[in-house]
Amino acid sequence: MLEVTNLTKTFRSGGGTIAAVDAVSFRVDEGQFASIIGRSGSGKSTLLALLGALDTASDGHIMIDGKDITTMHDHELIDYRCKRIGFVFQNYNLVPNLTALENVLLPMEFAKLKRSERLARARKLLDQVGISGDKQQRKPGKMSGGEQQRVSIARALANEPKLVLADEPTGNLDSENGKMIFDLLHGLARSENTTIIVVTHDLEIAGRTDKTFKLLDGKLQNK
Ligand SMILES: Nc1ncnc2c1ncn2[C@@H]1O[C@H](COP(=O)(O)OP(=O)(O)O)[C@@H](O)[C@H]1O
Ligand SMILES: [Mg+2]
Repeated sequence: MLEVTNLTKTFRSGGGTIAAVDAVSFRVDEGQFASIIGRSGSGKSTLLALLGALDTASDGHIMIDGKDITTMHDHELIDYRCKRIGFVFQNYNLVPNLTALENVLLPMEFAKLKRSERLARARKLLDQVGISGDKQQRKPGKMSGGEQQRVSIARALANEPKLVLADEPTGNLDSENGKMIFDLLHGLARSENTTIIVVTHDLEIAGRTDKTFKLLDGKLQNK
């Protein structure tokens, strides 16, 4: 479902340029759970941002279900990001003055669903990630890190994305909560046939995914 060819992203730095992502090629099949590892500064976040069309490539191609997102026009990209991709970030990135329920409803604003259907879906997603009852009315500041990350996963799933991209989703969590988030993502890949790509420092987590890609100075390593 995802095929990356010769993907390159260069940044200007001082007098020269650096290739944060350097001629990377790989593929991930539908429903696969893949991990990206590599030390800090190796290009993991840059690669994920390219896959999610949050940033534009300097060179190369990203084919998703037969469509090349590197050649899409802006309005197509907005549609792609909104409907096909779910993002999960290390810092959760929830809107602080909205409740858990409202955070999950937010990406559904533009979906062609009635208000009552959106509400039912948001509640169901939150139930599925273990945020039930009164907790759904809580604002992020009143939730633990693990709970906030579960809300952010529910939000990422709001529009039934085919591809979920997670940048160090367990990086701020203790190992127990980290394992819970990992199991949640893993279950999702299995039950919904969602393709998941997770960036992680945790080699134990990486070891349990279907496929692992290792980056070093922007280049993919054979491992
Ligand atoms: N917007 C930017 N401008 C300039 N350099 C950047 C930018 N974003 C990332 N970089 C550089 O690209 C390299 C890879 O960064 P990043 O993708 O954040 O690595 P990782 O997520 O693996 O820690 C680093 O050397 C970083 O300094
Ligand atoms: Mg990073």
